[in-house]
Amino acid sequence: MPPAPSPRYTAVAILLHWTLAVLLIFMIGLGWNMEDNANLFQLHKSVGILILVLTVARILWRAFNPPPPLPDDMTPWEKALSHAVHKGFYALMLLLPLLGWLVVSTSDKQVPTLLFKTIEWPHLPFTEGLRGGATEDIAEFLHSKGAWVLIVLLGLHVAGAVKHQMGAEEGVFKRMIPGLAGATSPPRPARGWIAAFGGALAFFGIIAAMPLLSSSAAPVPAATTEDTGDWDLSSANAEIRFSGTYQGDAFTGVFEDWRASVVFDPEAAADAAILVTVQTGSATTGDNFFDKSLKEGEWFDIAAHPTATVRLTHVQPVEQGFAADAVLTIKGKEITAPLAFTVTFDGDTATLAGGTRLARTELDLGQNSDAGAEYVSDDIEVSFSGTAQRK
Ligand code: HEM
Ligand code: HEM
Repeated sequence: MPPAPSPRYTAVAILLHWTLAVLLIFMIGLGWNMEDNANLFQLHKSVGILILVLTVARILWRAFNPPPPLPDDMTPWEKALSHAVHKGFYALMLLLPLLGWLVVSTSDKQVPTLLFKTIEWPHLPFTEGLRGGATEDIAEFLHSKGAWVLIVLLGLHVAGAVKHQMGAEEGVFKRMIPGLAGATSPPRPARGWIAAFGGALAFFGIIAAMPLLSSSAAPVPAATTEDTGDWDLSSANAEIRFSGTYQGDAFTGVFEDWRASVVFDPEAAADAAILVTVQTGSATTGDNFFDKSLKEGEWFDIAAHPTATVRLTHVQPVEQGFAADAVLTIKGKEITAPLAFTVTFDGDTATLAGGTRLARTELDLGQNSDAGAEYVSDDIEVSFSGTAQRK
């Protein structure tokens, strides 16, 4: 008598099995080959969190759609080993991403996580006090060794599947691969769609919403320099840009909110009094990852220091335009850099352009994650251009 048709996993279980198998194997390869490439780290974190969310869906799905029983011709110890390997897989599919998340949350480098370059993923809650300590080392150790355990389980798993396929037994591949000979029995009707995928989506959504809630709770105050000058000069008519390189590629950004108080007469340049107040939280580069990083403690630290100021002193005419000392105060630190600019007048409109170059490491910017300027260049060009109106 031919054996009874083998019961199959549901199509969703099959899809999740193979998707996660591919992603997990990819992640181990990626984990060992990220070198110091920040983009690969972001990809690793993005796919890792995707694995975590899909695993939540997979476990919920399994609760509603129990797997078909193992073939009868397996010995009890084979069944026990098979179940133990499956449990180990589920544990690792949860633990590895959680440990990775713990590594990035407790690292003193504090690099933000932007999933697939778009969704801001917060650090694990309650880990602030653990930064830069033993927790990171332990999590890193377990994350790395966990990947090896996954490989060992995979070896047992594939060996078991092949043995039961090749041997005289019923075969197991047809339960996990649709369309193989023998898999004639339709899968059982699937249940629990909303619970499994809604649950996983809710899990993801709640965590992804946390940064949105906290950033809206701390609005960036508007620039409030008291303007005692005789020129109207602000981000409405002029631009302050900054540019540098990140891993060798040029980036450029702009401060969208700043205001200046300007007393300036080209005939009496030495009497000039120019003070620019910049909302550091208004820096935008067109790249979410940069914008998010710039707001963090080691960069502009906008929560503690929402503004930076530039005061021009020793303004004097030079062959082409004017020269001045720019006294820059940022995060309570002050440095002076030479600055050159030109101004042309047309009635009550002054058109100006100029710039300077700063060493960001001297300004204590990015000193946790990149003190050696391996990623972000030390040299940052700052330039400005636009018009001012006489009041
Ligand atoms: C890292 C990669 C993989 C993981 C994490 C994984 C995980 C799992 C888990 C947890 C189950 C049990 C599902 C359940 O009952 O809830 C399973 C079943 C299965 N896997 Fe994998 N798997 C992986 C790769 C593979 C590969 C490469 C093969 C092919 C050789 C394979 C073949 C199978 C088969 C045939 C079954 C069905 C076993 C049965 O009849 O109970 N898996 N896998
Ligand atoms: C199931 C998913 C994951 C797998 C299989 C995996 C695998 C790996 C592997 C094999 C390594 C290399 C370890 C070594 O150098 O020995 C690694 C490193 C790393 N992973 Fe994951 N990972 C996963 C998820 C995550 C997630 C979700 C995050 C963060 C949100 C993360 C963050 C990291 C970090 C920061 C490192 C570098 C740690 C170090 O310097 O050793 N991983 N991962």
